[in-house]
Amino acid sequence: MSRTNGLATMPLFGKADTSNTFNPEATSVILAGDSAETLRSVPDGSIKLIITSPPYNIGKAYETATHLTEYLENLSPIVDQLIRVLAKDGSLCWQVGNYVEESEIFPLDIFYYPFFKLRGLKLRNRIVWHFEHGLHCSKRFSGRYEVLLWFTKSDNYTFNLDGVRVPSKYPGKTNYHPGENYGKPSGNPLGKNPADIWKVVEKDWETSLWCVPNVKANHPEKTIHPCQFPIEIVERCVLALTSENDWVLDPFSGVGSAILAALRHNRRAIGCEKEQDYISIAKQRIADFRNGTLPYRPLGKPVHQPTGREKVSQIPEEWLVPRGDSQ
Ligand SMILES: C[S@@+](CC[C@H](N)C(=O)[O-])C[C@H]1O[C@@H](n2cnc3c(N)ncnc32)[C@H](O)[C@@H]1O
Repeated sequence: MSRTNGLATMPLFGKADTSNTFNPEATSVILAGDSAETLRSVPDGSIKLIITSPPYNIGKAYETATHLTEYLENLSPIVDQLIRVLAKDGSLCWQVGNYVEESEIFPLDIFYYPFFKLRGLKLRNRIVWHFEHGLHCSKRFSGRYEVLLWFTKSDNYTFNLDGVRVPSKYPGKTNYHPGENYGKPSGNPLGKNPADIWKVVEKDWETSLWCVPNVKANHPEKTIHPCQFPIEIVERCVLALTSENDWVLDPFSGVGSAILAALRHNRRAIGCEKEQDYISIAKQRIADFRNGTLPYRPLGKPVHQPTGREKVSQIPEEWLVPRGDSQ
C-alpha cells in the first residue's frame, strides 16, 4: 500500500457516501462548481494522477464555444491549480481531440503542450487513441483518433508497466544473439509493453491489440452525458501511473467515469463538475459500484471477431456487379 503526502490509509471498498468536500478520510469526493474555485480546497501536492478530458470548446450542451485563445485563457486558472495539487512524483493525462472553426481543424494537443511545458511538466508519451467510427467528412479525411498527453511533474514518477502489459504476439520468440541467453525466450512472461497507440472500438466486432470500446448508445456504461470516457481507458492509466490508496483527480469529471476507474482499483478519487445533473448521475454510479450493480465493460474483455457471415460485414447486393457486366 502506498501513501500520498501522509494522508491516512483506510479500507477502500466501504459503503461510505461520496463526500461533497475534500476530506483526507474519504474515498470518493465530488466538488460541485467551477474547478478554478473548487480545486482550492485540495491540498498542495496531494494528487498522484490527474486524468481528464476537458471541454473541447465545440459547443456541447455543457459549454459555450468561444475563440480558441479565449478558451485556453479561461482554462489557465484551472491548470494553475492542477499543477499546484499534483504530487512531485505525479502524472497528468490530458485527453483531447480537435477544435474546429469554419472547417479548419486545430488539434488541441498542439495548443496544450506549451501550456503544460511552460509550467514545468515533462511529456512522457503522446498516446494516440484510435477509433473506427465517427463523423464522415466530405472536405477532409474523416478524423479517427484523439490524443492523450501524459506528462509527469519530475523525472521520479510511478510507471507500473507490469500492471498493464498485453499478450505478446509471438511469446515463443527466442534470443538469437550469441551468449548465455542464446535460445532462451526473449520476451517477458507477463506480456509486452502496450505501446502508444491505443485502438478504441465502438462496437465489439472490431479487432485491436489494445481495444477499448468508445462509449456509445449500445455500451453498458452509457448515460446521458454526450462525451463520456470509457472507464477502461482510464483504468489503464490508473494501473500504470498510481499505486493503491493514491489520489486520482478528474477536474472535469462529468458522470464520474475516472472516479469509477480509480475506485475499481482501490485508489481514492476526486471529481470536479459544474453541472448538477452529471454530479447526480456520477453519485448514483458510485453507489451502484459500491453495491456491485454498476454495468461496465470489464478491463481487457476480448472483442468479438466478425466471422464474415454477419449481414453487416457483407457487401450489399445492390453493389455486386452481375456476372458478364464487368466490361
Ligand atoms: C468532456 S466532458 C468530461 C466527461 C467525463 N470524462 C465523463 O466520463 O463523464 C467535460 C465536463 O467538464 C464539465 N466542465 C466544463 N467546464 C467546467 C468547469 N469550469 N468546472 C467544472 N466542470 C466543468 C462539463 O460540464 C462536462 O461534464
